[in-house]
Amino acid sequence: GTILVLNGPNLNLLGQRQPEIYGAETLADVEAACRTLAAELGFDLAFRQSNREYELIDWIHDARETARAIVINPAAFTHTSVAILDALNTFEGPVIEVHISNVHQREAFRHHSYVSQRADGIVVGCGTQGYELALQRVARLLG
Ligand code: DQA
Repeated sequence: GTILVLNGPNLNLLGQRQPEIYGAETLADVEAACRTLAAELGFDLAFRQSNREYELIDWIHDARETARAIVINPAAFTHTSVAILDALNTFEGPVIEVHISNVHQREAFRHHSYVSQRADGIVVGCGTQGYELALQRVARLLG
C-alpha cells in the first residue's frame, strides 16, 4: 500500500524559510527521511508539495483510489481551507495532520485548523521529525 505525504504552500522553501521557526532541513531532506522510514515500515511513499490549493485537492481525490493513508501538512491552508477539509472528508483511510512548528505558541490565527476536524491524529511542534512520527502512527493504524 501507498502512503501519500502532502505539503502545502511555501514548504518548498523549507530550510531557507524562517529557519529559526522551521529548522535547517530542506523538503528534500524530509522526503529522504520519509522514504527510508516508509521502506522500513513496508509501505510505498508518494511525497508531494504544492503552492496551489486546487492541486492539493486534486491529489486528495486521486488518493481515494491510490493511497491507504494521508499525512498532510497543509501549511497556511490549515487555517483557511474548508475545501481541503471537504476533500479529506471524501477519503476513507487514516489522515494525520503535521505542523513542524508549535502553532499554539504562535499567532492566534494559527490556533485554529479546519483540517483537525477530520484528522485522526495531529503532530505539532516536533520539527521535521513530525513527519516520521506521523508515518509511524499511520503504520500502526493500518495494522
Ligand atoms: C505550518 C504552520 C502554519 O501555520 C504555517 O502557515 C506553515 C507551516 C508548520 O508546519 O508549522 O506554513 O503548517
